[in-house]
Amino acid sequence: MIEAPATNPPPADAMEALKRRAAAAALDSIQSGMIVGLGTGSTADQFIRLLAEKARAGLKVRTVSSSERSTTLARAEGLDVATLDELPQLDVTVDGADEVDQQLRLIKGGGGALLREKIVATASRRMIVICDEGKLVAELGRFPLPIEVVPFGVTAIRASLDKAAARLGLGGAMAVRQTATGEPYYTDGGHLIIDASFGRIPDPEALADALDRIPGVVLHGLFIGLASEVILAGADGVRRLTPPQPA
Ligand code: 5RP
Repeated sequence: MIEAPATNPPPADAMEALKRRAAAAALDSIQSGMIVGLGTGSTADQFIRLLAEKARAGLKVRTVSSSERSTTLARAEGLDVATLDELPQLDVTVDGADEVDQQLRLIKGGGGALLREKIVATASRRMIVICDEGKLVAELGRFPLPIEVVPFGVTAIRASLDKAAARLGLGGAMAVRQTATGEPYYTDGGHLIIDASFGRIPDPEALADALDRIPGVVLHGLFIGLASEVILAGADGVRRLTPPQPA
């Protein structure tokens, strides 16, 4: 497979153009009458702006958001944002990702919204992932895996994470995420995030399973079996990945 090099990312304005291109391609899948899940992050922001533009031009959609940040942007752009309890079944969610592999397994949570993102994606018939092609990797793990945990007993939870990782042959530093001013970073749900720099995750399913069993872990950023399609934007245009068909 072709994987973009980890170094030399495009300059910031070219990167924004790629995100917008991926977001614009996802709009093709949105029809009037749909209930649309809004992801979180800079690429999801591009989608929200483009969706709002189309809504102002007459497209009728209702949305459910995965973060306070996306809710604020969507409402400022004039979109109708309902709660997930008001609209518990969504047609499609469009969201970004931190890493994607060929099997459409994702690492998400760089923006801290992983819990609501996973709930919203799970409540959706389809999840379309939009990103620049630099996010495509041969093996997940270059991006530190966000693990959302309750604040109670975070040191003990971290020790359990270390043990679970070691059993799977994984190492690397784990750090409680901080804000730019050095305070603990709290998610919209009032939890902490531990970023685990595994380097490589050869068996994402096994890791997901092990993390799901640790008391205190609310959720992790491995999104497996959720993405229906990944739209990758590169300098030469967009390409779409779909899940491999079972043999
Ligand atoms: C937020 C996420 C984002 O989708 C992910 O971090 C990608 O963000 P960006 O589009 O800014 O690169 O998972 O929790």
